[in-house]
Amino acid sequence: MESAVEKLKERIDLVELIGAYVALKKAGRNFKGLCPFHQEKTPSFIVSADRQLWRCFGSCGIGGDAIAFIMKFENLTFPEAVSELAEKYGVQIEEFKTLNAPSDLRGRLLAIHKTAADYYHYILLKTPTGKKALEYLTSRGISEKIMKTFQLGYAPSSWDSFYQYAQKKNITPFDLVEGGLCIRKQNGSAYDRFRGRIMFPLMDHRGNVVGFSGRILSNESEAKYVNTPETPIYHKRTMLYGLHIVKDMIKKKNSVIIVEGEFDMITPFQHGVDTVVAIKGSALTIEQLQLIKRYTNRVHIALDADSAGEEAIRRAIEVAEPLGFELGVIMIPEGKDPDEAVRTNEHHFKEAVKKPIPVYDFLIDLFIKKHPPSDPFSKKIIGDELAPFLFGITNPIVQSYYIKQLARILDVSEESIQKVVYSFRKKRFVRKQVSAPPQNPTLARTEKIQYYFLGSLLQSDNPTTIINSLSVSLNKNDFHIPAHGIMYESLVEYIHKNNSFTMNDFAQSLSPELRSVADDLYMQSSIHTEKSNAPLLQLALEIKADSLKKQIQKHLQDTSTSHDETVSRLQLELKEVEKKHSTI
Ligand code: CTP
Ligand code: MN
Repeated sequence: MESAVEKLKERIDLVELIGAYVALKKAGRNFKGLCPFHQEKTPSFIVSADRQLWRCFGSCGIGGDAIAFIMKFENLTFPEAVSELAEKYGVQIEEFKTLNAPSDLRGRLLAIHKTAADYYHYILLKTPTGKKALEYLTSRGISEKIMKTFQLGYAPSSWDSFYQYAQKKNITPFDLVEGGLCIRKQNGSAYDRFRGRIMFPLMDHRGNVVGFSGRILSNESEAKYVNTPETPIYHKRTMLYGLHIVKDMIKKKNSVIIVEGEFDMITPFQHGVDTVVAIKGSALTIEQLQLIKRYTNRVHIALDADSAGEEAIRRAIEVAEPLGFELGVIMIPEGKDPDEAVRTNEHHFKEAVKKPIPVYDFLIDLFIKKHPPSDPFSKKIIGDELAPFLFGITNPIVQSYYIKQLARILDVSEESIQKVVYSFRKKRFVRKQVSAPPQNPTLARTEKIQYYFLGSLLQSDNPTTIINSLSVSLNKNDFHIPAHGIMYESLVEYIHKNNSFTMNDFAQSLSPELRSVADDLYMQSSIHTEKSNAPLLQLALEIKADSLKKQIQKHLQDTSTSHDETVSRLQLELKEVEKKHSTI
């Protein structure tokens, strides 16, 4: 199996694979881009074509090979990632059959959910049991085509119809309960969670069914919706209903509309509004936004006009602003939810969708309506309420624009608004301040130079020529980090033994520990390629001089013995090095 995985990895071009998810630019011998696993504005995510490795040198610091990337990005287990890549690269799937078997709980639960979705869908469309549900959906204007697209279904109103069906398929009660499809009884058996309900399969962005939402057919007093609880495969916080169907359109049109219910996603979609996803009637989460970030950074929230709300927007801003989203609000006309609005007046709805209101305009409007600014005190209240929002705007141009805007609307000076926002900042700042760790600037500089020197050496076309033309001989003790010293000596040794240098070949010659040190240096140096390419010969002299100074200092401090001779030798050497340095 080991070799099968190796064979698969040989087929993969990592730059191409990751390039499909992350915009990559050439940087030295490697490629760099914005890390998809944390929020950042300057690229610290490096992909190496030679080494077939990736690594984030920013705050998350993770890295690995193609399989590790797919596991992390798609949230898959090792066997899942391997079989996905095997399929993609046309590697004999037989070799991975054993890997593919859903022996793990997650894999089994996914399979069970697929079975359940098929089962409920069949009942809705093909059986007399589903007739009433089919009529209900039709009465809500849902076409059969859409029922198929979203694999809508019907769960019969019996205590155990799916349970019985699953038994026949050898699905264990344990798995049914773990997956949330059934609820355990005292006697150890279980009964169906979803009974007599229209079934919406909840799919992840890849189209795997991970849970269900079930709606009753009437509007009786019983709970209108029953949902899958948190399970190993279903997490409400990450669910965006409809995403797997509309993700390409979201990317293409570079915006997404967020609504609050399954029907509010489906009905607009059926009428051609094809960038909608639904959250489950509650707050937009960071997890959902991180998923959205892969496709767009423009988020338009469609609010039920009744809840048109400060609270929903406040929470959305809190999570979306730090992530750099452009937030807009779509005011649903006719005071309804999107599903009803589309059916009442498709044209009005589509017009509203075309004109999202920038979130800060929306907020200013909202507070002005709440406290009509007819006197100075209402103006003060409006200022106080808006201050935290204006303070939170991360882009200074956008922030300055809205400060000006509010000043104009309230007919007060811009400085007064700035002061209110600023006083808010002071309060926040005091709370947030943390003491910075003590730093030794010279040490940091030396270390940086050494990183840069070694990284550039490994990236250069011909390290052999460079090393041979150095006017000082560096040894492992000249490097601040011991592993860097050992790596450097291994490089010199390699160069003496071999006539040519390739990074891949050199890396293979190292122990696994040293290899990862070399890989780190090789990849990290791609982050700063735009920096001046300080001549490596000069850097070598700087490293040597620094190392000599440190040795001299150490000898002078060590008073136990007399080292006059050593010290003067070192000082002489230092003078030589400094002379060479000044003449370069
Ligand atoms: N919801 C839920 N549990 C409830 C009520 C609502 O999980 N008891 C979720 C559902 O996903 C629902 C969404 O919150 O779609 C919005 O709720 P609501 O506006 O009450 O329902 P609608 O989407 O309007 O549903 P319908 O049009 O079928 O009445
Ligand atoms: Mn509704």
